[in-house]
Amino acid sequence: MENLLITGGCGFIGSNFIHYLLDESDFTGRIINVDSLTYAGNPENLLEIEERYGDCYVFIKADICHKERMAALFEEYDVDSVCHFAAESHVDRSIVEPGAFIQTNIVGTFNLLEASRKHQAKLKRFHHVSTDEVFGSLGPEGLFTETTPYRPNSPYSASKASSDHLVRAYHETYGLPITISNCSNNYGPFQFPEKLIPLMILNAMEDRPLPIYGDGLNVRDWLYVGDHCKAVWAIMKRGRRGETYNIGGNHEMENIRIVETICDLIDDLPEMKHKPSRRTLINFVKDRLGHDRRYAIDAGKLQKELEWSPEESFQSGIKKTLGWYLEHPSWIERIRTGAYQDWILEHYR
Ligand SMILES: NC(=O)c1ccc[n+]([C@@H]2O[C@H](COP(=O)([O-])OP(=O)(O)OC[C@H]3O[C@@H](n4cnc5c(N)ncnc54)[C@H](O)[C@@H]3O)[C@@H](O)[C@H]2O)c1
Repeated sequence: MENLLITGGCGFIGSNFIHYLLDESDFTGRIINVDSLTYAGNPENLLEIEERYGDCYVFIKADICHKERMAALFEEYDVDSVCHFAAESHVDRSIVEPGAFIQTNIVGTFNLLEASRKHQAKLKRFHHVSTDEVFGSLGPEGLFTETTPYRPNSPYSASKASSDHLVRAYHETYGLPITISNCSNNYGPFQFPEKLIPLMILNAMEDRPLPIYGDGLNVRDWLYVGDHCKAVWAIMKRGRRGETYNIGGNHEMENIRIVETICDLIDDLPEMKHKPSRRTLINFVKDRLGHDRRYAIDAGKLQKELEWSPEESFQSGIKKTLGWYLEHPSWIERIRTGAYQDWILEHYR
């Protein structure tokens, strides 16, 4: 892969993936990062990458919903592989305003598939990054496998399910060399503070309430973002064309236990010594509409075929994550105040 188009590279997982590819993996080609810089995209996540890898890293501010622009980029940069992260990704936002999810997640994916089809002679791989939420909710037992029927319950998961079907269909119909991954909940550096773990870290550090939906007993399988990046790269290089792979951390946890773990880690910080336990800030709020009860992943296929398994335990991953947020107060401040968006306006008019 010499010219790898990455969409959504300024978001949480995309920016971790670009750091991983250039700093740690055996990738030696050029990355073309296409991102429209919505509220969730922060090019400051990659400033250091631009400085260090100027020759093999290109950033393009563009919207995947713009069909002609996408087709032109494939030609201009001689794209031979795609890793598609760009999406509207926050379930709560999809409940309030689903339209953008339909456009980006479905129509945007369709545009990339069409551009890929036109460019098919050169295309080695189109990898689509998706979520375990497409499978719906589990009862107390069982795990999602690659053959679990789709049963999405939110506009977000329905839009991702739709894009998964399109990607698969382009393999069956046109022979496009696709792979798909369905991953569990990620956490780690650069995650936008609307998501559970960074929200709880920041609120707990600032003595603010820690809002938890419903009874707090909803279960998710948590995966450190670095492990997700390694899995995606393994699938891109060695995964079988036309196949789907589930990715999971093998670490199921109730939301309340996640928050309690974060509280306990923060309580142990020297600057928190004289403060009451962070657990006193926990505040149960009205449940999310259509809130799935439990997700759990069987990542056996990925382990067996590609010898991938998560390297971080939840304990080690959450400590790293907390450490990262504590070490990056100006990143947090610029998100909180919106300064990162002023910077975008200045640099990418
Ligand atoms: N975060 C998770 O726990 C998780 C788990 C499994 C799968 N996923 C999937 O991984 C992918 C990345 O998730 P994330 O958490 O990094 O999301 P994110 O919201 O942090 O980042 C999304 C990125 O896509 C960009 N984007 C949005 N709309 C665009 C458009 N129309 N054109 C170009 N760029 C656009 C945004 O600017 C942002 O940089 C998504 O496809 C998501 O469904 C996420």
